[in-house]
Amino acid sequence: MIVLGIESTAHTFGVGIIEDRNVLANVKDAYTTESGGIIPSAAADHHVNACKQVLNDGLKKAGISMKDIDLIAFSQGPGIGNTLEVGAVAARTLSITYGIPIIGVNHCVAHLEVGNLCTDAKDPVLLYCSGANTQVIAFEGGRYRVFGETLDIGIGNFLDSVAREMGLGFPGGPKIYELSLKSKNYIELPYVVKGMDVSFGGIFTNVKSKLQKHSKEDLAYSIQETVFAMMLEVAERAMAHCNKSKLLLGGGVACNKRFQEMAHKMCKQREGTCFIPPSEFLLDNGGMIAWLGYIVAKAGNKMNIEDTSIRPYERTDDIDVNWR
Ligand code: ATP
Ligand code: FE2
Repeated sequence: MIVLGIESTAHTFGVGIIEDRNVLANVKDAYTTESGGIIPSAAADHHVNACKQVLNDGLKKAGISMKDIDLIAFSQGPGIGNTLEVGAVAARTLSITYGIPIIGVNHCVAHLEVGNLCTDAKDPVLLYCSGANTQVIAFEGGRYRVFGETLDIGIGNFLDSVAREMGLGFPGGPKIYELSLKSKNYIELPYVVKGMDVSFGGIFTNVKSKLQKHSKEDLAYSIQETVFAMMLEVAERAMAHCNKSKLLLGGGVACNKRFQEMAHKMCKQREGTCFIPPSEFLLDNGGMIAWLGYIVAKAGNKMNIEDTSIRPYERTDDIDVNWR
């Protein structure tokens, strides 16, 4: 079965094409800015303009045409309404024009399930660290159960906000990482873990108050050491509670090499293993949407065009995982 996946929940317009477990193409075009965060209408305009080229690039890379596609999967939610709508309209238009079945899938679950395509992690604790979402998850009783999560903004949005304050542009995570490599001087920051939850709002306010007094490099280094330690503390506790020895990272922030190093170290200390998909599958991409569409459809799930309205607020634990 050949599945075309369309991703458009936020900054990235992506098209992935898979044939069963083989990734034939995974192409994207991302909205970026020199000095700020995401402006929803501008990101949606970006996707409208990028859509045709990204689709054509994907088909060309895969060496197929639209008539070879058996299923169109798209990110139905959660995400920014303006940008979700662009992907949904593209998916519906292709579905109707070429008479191909359509299926909407949950973006967060796609970030988790792609770990099964890219790694051998069996029954792991999942640490999902992306722009809007920050959750510690384990699969239990037919659902991805959220054991802990951010009480305010996502870890990626936190890094993006800090970067914006520093005038570094969007996305901020990679820029903070580059700066962090130039320092080893730790500046005390609030460390906010509440039970199994984390919070970044107070750290952001604290960092803002320190911007005049400390170098960007020292702050970048200290921010990473602090927030990654927070995430790995709750992940480790979830591993202990659930008696699981495997950890699977997901989401764009997991591209961070320092985060990866700390995660491997924590798992090694517990005699466990940390699994991390390649960066192209951590950041938003159409491949993970195609893969989730494939496994959802293979389990017999179907959708009519009337069911394809976007779901901007759908949560990871809303999804009935009937394909496992
Ligand atoms: P969500 O999945 O919650 O809807 P999203 O789709 O916007 O959010 P992703 O594409 O998974 O998120 O990840 C984007 C985020 O990852 C951005 O906030 C970006 O700054 C961050 N990021 C990307 N690369 C790195 C890196 N090397 N280090 C830290 N953060 C990074
Ligand atoms: Fe994402």
